[in-house]
Amino acid sequence: MNPLRTTVSVLTMVMASGAVFAGPPDWSKVPVTKMYVFYPGASPVEWIMNGVEHSGAKGLRKGEPCTACHQEEAEKLVLGNKMVSGEKIEPKPIKGKAAGFPVNVQAAHDGSTLYLRFSWKQPPGGGPKMDADNPVKLALMFAPDGITAKDEKGREVDMSKLGGCWATCHADSRTMPEAKDDKKTKYVKDAGKFYDLLQWTSKANKGFDGYVADKRVMEGGTALIEAKGENKGGEWTVVFARKFTGGDKDIALAPGKVVNFGFAIHDDYTNGRFHHVTLGYTLGIDAKADLTAVKQ
Ligand code: HEC
Repeated sequence: MNPLRTTVSVLTMVMASGAVFAGPPDWSKVPVTKMYVFYPGASPVEWIMNGVEHSGAKGLRKGEPCTACHQEEAEKLVLGNKMVSGEKIEPKPIKGKAAGFPVNVQAAHDGSTLYLRFSWKQPPGGGPKMDADNPVKLALMFAPDGITAKDEKGREVDMSKLGGCWATCHADSRTMPEAKDDKKTKYVKDAGKFYDLLQWTSKANKGFDGYVADKRVMEGGTALIEAKGENKGGEWTVVFARKFTGGDKDIALAPGKVVNFGFAIHDDYTNGRFHHVTLGYTLGIDAKADLTAVKQ
């Protein structure tokens, strides 16, 4: 059979079906947004919302997001300084750990699938191997609407647009200094609400599609197509392909939509709170946001 003819007819069939799977974009054509992760120490939402300990709680109550006060320190890589050194809210500092580092983030879509690419230079390490299997894990969460947190006087604050992943991070979660149960994961206190969670782990080099509701579940989502990563000469790259819509534990994306999100990198075999995290950011699909996914 003429190989050229075969190629042509397959192409015609795909085009006729109307469901052309465009595949990952040409990343060299996708703009890079620099985002910043920092070492948060033990700063659970209970600490964040306590205006006596964190003066930012007052701003949050007025509707100011973390970035309004902290973006500049995050960009200068100094926001994590006090925690990483153990000067503040970190009883177990890890020697040599970075206070923060920049991550190059790219986002694109093909009309039905979102592609996210993260790349960063391996920061210094050498701490204890808490998760001996995985030198690196990357997780991202999309926030739902209607997530609340209480301040020190019990006043409810709507955190959906303000606080990135913080509403899932609690003082009694495992690895926190006040934790009593080492199985207790992240959770959301608002009944019926969930954060949509995607994670990539380096050993298996695969992705997990879960969610955080009354506990963290690493499965249950059906939107993730694939997550793959690699380390080339100290430069990590991780790419997620995620359908716009999945099951009932996947937050639906669509052109024109803006969703609140944050991401975290567990560097140097760490676990639990010993990660680097972003402040709360927005992702727009063909829409203006901190990070915009444009159609390729
Ligand atoms: C209105 C401004 C404001 C907002 C909004 C705000 N903060 Fe803060 N934050 C501060 C100030 C000022 C400090 C330093 C002194 C203190 O703790 O009050 C601080 C301290 C911190 C620290 C300890 C680091 C240090 O250098 O003291 C962390 C961690 C932190 N904030 C995280 C957050 C997160 C996460 C959010 C969003 C959920 C947030 N902040 C929202 C003003 C703010």
